[in-house]
Amino acid sequence: MTELALYIHWPFCKSKCPYCDFNSHVRASIDEARWRAALLKDLEHYAGLTRGRAIASIFFGGGTPSLMAAETVATVLERAAALWPLEPDVEITLEGNPTSVEAARFREFRSAGVNRVSLGVQALEDGALKFLGRGHDVREALAALDVARQTFGRFSFDLIYARPGQTVASWEPELDRAIALAGEHLSVYQLTIEAGTAFAPAHARGDFVLPDEETQAALYETTVARLEAAGLPAYEISNHARPGAECRHNLVYWRYGDYVGVGPGAHGRLTLDGARVATRQHRAPETWLEAVERHGHGGDEPVSLTPREQRDELLMMGLRLADGISRARFRERLGLDLEAALDRDRIASLTEAGFLDLDSERLVATPAGRQRLNAVLTRLLG
Ligand SMILES: C[S@@+](CC[C@H](N)C(=O)[O-])C[C@H]1O[C@@H](n2cnc3c(N)ncnc32)[C@H](O)[C@@H]1O
Ligand code: SF4
Repeated sequence: MTELALYIHWPFCKSKCPYCDFNSHVRASIDEARWRAALLKDLEHYAGLTRGRAIASIFFGGGTPSLMAAETVATVLERAAALWPLEPDVEITLEGNPTSVEAARFREFRSAGVNRVSLGVQALEDGALKFLGRGHDVREALAALDVARQTFGRFSFDLIYARPGQTVASWEPELDRAIALAGEHLSVYQLTIEAGTAFAPAHARGDFVLPDEETQAALYETTVARLEAAGLPAYEISNHARPGAECRHNLVYWRYGDYVGVGPGAHGRLTLDGARVATRQHRAPETWLEAVERHGHGGDEPVSLTPREQRDELLMMGLRLADGISRARFRERLGLDLEAALDRDRIASLTEAGFLDLDSERLVATPAGRQRLNAVLTRLLG
């Protein structure tokens, strides 16, 4: 049986950023001991389903897990190690905001077992950080990055581009500065306006205007080319790393491997008794907490995925990767050859249009295909 990844969701933030539609919430106070106990209970529930499988990576995502008490992180990691065997080189990542308060906790997180951090720097321009509603300025973010570099073997940070008014000429120096600050990994996301966020009505009202499509495409191409030239090629649409330094945890998702999802709103994909199942937790923090306290876990029963759902998910995930999907992996996961599971005419038309490549080894979305992956998937899967 293949290795397992473990995701733990911490749903709280100091303030809600206007662009963010993650399951993140602001609360005046939280009872952390109660939350800790619930996370441990939920871990135990999933360990019961996956006992004996080795854990290759653990990821504390959010929300803002760097706001967790180090004691909570340590207790969760100790319990995980008691419930599952951990691979000797297990990757343990914690997501965080680059503020001084949180940087002061980095050493404690390190002692708890965290060996990789991913920080939401978002921009290297104070005006842009203000627009994005961030609670830190560039100076504070750089100081937190310094602490991360000194404390953890591995660190990454996030940037958001295609912001209002941005041009290739203004983005290039910012990107070069990011390259100079980067370690082995960088995530660079194009700003998207998500329904239900504060940006959605503001954008609809015309309070700000995003760069036009042509500029967005040019910004994406500049990002990919400059990072590749700096030794940080894109291994996924928005993720760049030195070869070998990719985020192992995210690779499990994109390769459609098995992962346990613990905490409010967390998803999981597991192979149980030969069937592929999806697990899903209640999204609202308090609903989840009460469900765990009452029933020992915070979600509904696992749902079996049909072969078609599995095919679609495997393609949606795998085509995000620069390496695409190997024929061997496709067969191993779905028990079918690529050509037997997909419409040959659709593959042929997408290949001719320059959006897909299929050879004797793998199916890959070309850079042009990855840039418009949703449209490619719609044409491929119907
Ligand atoms: C869960 S957050 C990261 C952790 C931490 N809470 C923070 O904000 O620093 C994941 C990342 O997704 C990116 N992101 C979230 N919403 C986005 C949006 N609408 N457009 C582009 N990037 C977005 C941001 O770069 C953010 O750092
Ligand atoms: S971007 Fe990060 S800090 Fe901001 S609301 Fe989302 S999860 Fe919270």
